[in-house]
Amino acid sequence: MAADLFSRRDVIAAAPLVLLAPGLVRAQAAEDGVWRFLVVGDWGRDGLQGQRQTAAAMARVARERGSEFVVSTGDNFYNWGVASKTEHRWNTCFENVYDPALGPWYAVLGNHDYGGSVQAQIDRGAMGGRWTMDARWWDRALQKPGRPDLHLFFFDTVAWKGKEELPHSLRGADVNAAMRARQIDEMGGKVRGSAAPLKLAFGHHAVWSVGPHGGKRGLVDLDKLLRDNRVKAWVHGHDHCLFHIQQGAMHYVCSGAGSKVLSRHKPPGACPAEDCGELGPVEEKAYLAKNPGGPNHIDGGFALFEVGATSGRFTFFDQQARAAYSAPLY
Ligand SMILES: [Fe+2]
Repeated sequence: MAADLFSRRDVIAAAPLVLLAPGLVRAQAAEDGVWRFLVVGDWGRDGLQGQRQTAAAMARVARERGSEFVVSTGDNFYNWGVASKTEHRWNTCFENVYDPALGPWYAVLGNHDYGGSVQAQIDRGAMGGRWTMDARWWDRALQKPGRPDLHLFFFDTVAWKGKEELPHSLRGADVNAAMRARQIDEMGGKVRGSAAPLKLAFGHHAVWSVGPHGGKRGLVDLDKLLRDNRVKAWVHGHDHCLFHIQQGAMHYVCSGAGSKVLSRHKPPGACPAEDCGELGPVEEKAYLAKNPGGPNHIDGGFALFEVGATSGRFTFFDQQARAAYSAPLY
């Protein structure tokens, strides 16, 4: 697919931010050739259970470090998604919680979003605000002078995996084998066809997991698609914590601590070989979760990605906007 420029809506959404928040480091980010953006997941709880505090930390990090947009890794609205593109929870969970200076939001669907209308979340993106979800699965190729092209791929892992054990997860929309096959075909073509030097992929569920929900069968072919086509990281949520797993050159980054952080910790490689194929040993690099008194305790958190032509890294921040862990991606 040919790369397209920032959409007009992105430019419009970002333009007032310079006036509202002159301290943002956007100019510096543009000059040094690095893309900077935040990733948060598992967040929509009407500002409660740590959501509002984590949102404030996101705004602070964006001001101090520079960030141009946000990627949401799904479970955008607990517990049942949204019913319409204008219902009140767009305000109580999103518009009134997150600083407009964070810029556009690029979002994927989580299992809880399927408890309501997934079409409503897509339709919201057509209203011209900062919420962006072009379709259940979609991509965005970003280009700016002086920076390497950055191609972002947004997957619907609920449709990819099919029905899971949560009884409410598929209440709001139909998911069937034909939909799964269509996503594999369409997104596979986009990932294979992209010539961008920087490719990152986002979805809701983990391939490998040391978090509360664990790895689940059903994403082995997705993982192979990403690894065979130079995608540098699979970035997801669902696990209500922050963790980093590396396997060879591939990184698995969980940023799912936007609210209600959980603590159960599974051993490295918790996704067993029979579920995840013959990938070889995985290396757990970090695990941050709700663990009062423990060294890796957080009450909320998110990730800042900083990716340039020759190096890239991500950093986990906690609810107090303190850098908790940072690792190179390449
Ligand atoms: Fe989830």
